[in-house]
Amino acid sequence: MDALIEQLRQRFREALVAAFGGEFAATDPIVVPASNPKFGDYQANVALSLTKPLKQKPREIAETLVANLNIADICQKPEIAGPGFINLTLKPAYLELVLSQIAVDARLGVPTVKLPQRVVVDFSSPNIAKEMHVGHLRSTIIGDCIARILEFRGYEVLRLNHIGDWGTQFGMLITYLREVHPTALTTADALDLGDLVGFYRQAKKRFDEDPSFQEAARHQVVKLQGGDRASRRAWELICEQSRREFLQIYQLLDIKLQERGESFYNPFLADVVADLRQQGLLKEDQGAQCVFLEGFTNKEGDALPLIVQKSDGGYNYATTDLAAIGYRLQHDGATRIIYVTDAGQATHFAAIFQVAQRAGWIPLGVSLIHVPFGLVLGEDGKKFKTRSGDTVRLRDLLDEAIARAKADLQARLAAEGRTETPEFCDHVGQTVGIGAVKYADLSQNRTSNYIFSYDKMLALQGNTAPYLLYAYVRVQGIARKGEINFEKLGTDAQISLGEATELVLAKHLLQFSDVIAEVEQDLLPNRLCLYLFELSQKFNQFYDRCPVLQAEEPQRTSRLILSDLTARTLKLGLSLLGISVVERM
Ligand code: ARG
Repeated sequence: MDALIEQLRQRFREALVAAFGGEFAATDPIVVPASNPKFGDYQANVALSLTKPLKQKPREIAETLVANLNIADICQKPEIAGPGFINLTLKPAYLELVLSQIAVDARLGVPTVKLPQRVVVDFSSPNIAKEMHVGHLRSTIIGDCIARILEFRGYEVLRLNHIGDWGTQFGMLITYLREVHPTALTTADALDLGDLVGFYRQAKKRFDEDPSFQEAARHQVVKLQGGDRASRRAWELICEQSRREFLQIYQLLDIKLQERGESFYNPFLADVVADLRQQGLLKEDQGAQCVFLEGFTNKEGDALPLIVQKSDGGYNYATTDLAAIGYRLQHDGATRIIYVTDAGQATHFAAIFQVAQRAGWIPLGVSLIHVPFGLVLGEDGKKFKTRSGDTVRLRDLLDEAIARAKADLQARLAAEGRTETPEFCDHVGQTVGIGAVKYADLSQNRTSNYIFSYDKMLALQGNTAPYLLYAYVRVQGIARKGEINFEKLGTDAQISLGEATELVLAKHLLQFSDVIAEVEQDLLPNRLCLYLFELSQKFNQFYDRCPVLQAEEPQRTSRLILSDLTARTLKLGLSLLGISVVERM
């Protein structure tokens, strides 16, 4: 079953051909959801775009189109408005038919892709020995959501964690630890990440202040990259410590990721440079091997270089990313590679994409996509920090959200005179707390900065996770109260729509697959959030106006199906955002 909007487009394409001939078969009918419900449910704006080729007035074109439009099974008689907009209103009978099909479909009308291509989603990707910060939290949440949506559509998704586990930080760190804490380099469990971050900070300070330390650290990097045993062992231990901390966060957030850090590509770096040289793309600049970029210039208008090998022979972040592109295309067979990082890395990705393109590595039909996101700000509008000015540890941030969600719940229980077990409170607190953090992030257009506020994200009102979860819980409450088993409502039970709020809810339910298709295209999860928020609002309006358990048959069953479908859409939609539901709260 094609999404509704696609069906409408198809009917218009047929009408275009019937009215104006085969050369209009590929014309975009410009069918969009109506901007205002008083114009109906959808509108087609194609007539206005055809005035030039047809040399007719848009209204005349619209009239001819409507006369050739075969759409009576889906819509009421189309109306032509203004200069030539064609307004479409869905027929209740059509809504009832399609909704009853969706109601018995576990995928709720969302089709799987016909060609399940392989997609790499490169996300989270924190750096060893540095604390995971809120930027990595955004990457983790957004990347996971994109991966979930692509997986649900049937793509083969490779979730890759491009951990920063290679590079100059290890030279400093090993040299420093050898001085102050040598057992950490030979014994497992000798330090935890908290210490490691502190050591890294001190090592960096030494590096910046002491030339002989600098020299030793540089030498240490060369030894490590040359495969020296003791250095390798020290490196492994340091990575192990960081990894443990990262894993805790991933477990708490329910994130699946395959680690393939920068070090993985080490064996391929020399080949990358050799290949670029062979393609004639390399130029030496102050001893470094560079590719001069097209379209990137400095103030003087000179082309900017992308360094792929430093003057000391070492490779860098860009070289590694170029090697990763090659590997993901050749070995992984990826046709789409999606990178989720902060917007600050936009230039880096534009540059490496260009170099890969010019080197002839990108086959036709393959796309490399950078998915950028903005900053997380504190409530003062400045960079998100603890009160003492330190970066916020992710672990603390998530624990705080959970603790606050649990406290909110307990306050509500007390106010309502309800008693629940401690396990219940822990479970709901955790689900709501984590869900709220994820939802607060995903519901913003990712390209803008957003303000992190526990109070806002945990509010029961507004575009928040608790509001959506509450709508879901309300439906489960209907089932408990009426002792209804939604699964046993019967597959042949009829949906009949009469009340205005029922129609509005039904039309919204029908748009789920359109929204999923949109998010898959634009990789903007906030579209799905908005859809689910509006679904919750429309359900609440319906539920306020229309009795469900008290209604007469056939209304009663029809409304129960509508409620259940709302809950299932919420549950599925939230699961695609990486958020679990609760049955009571
Ligand atoms: N480790 C990097 C950072 O913390 C992000 C890596 C993103 N992925 C990539 N292939 N460059 O900023």
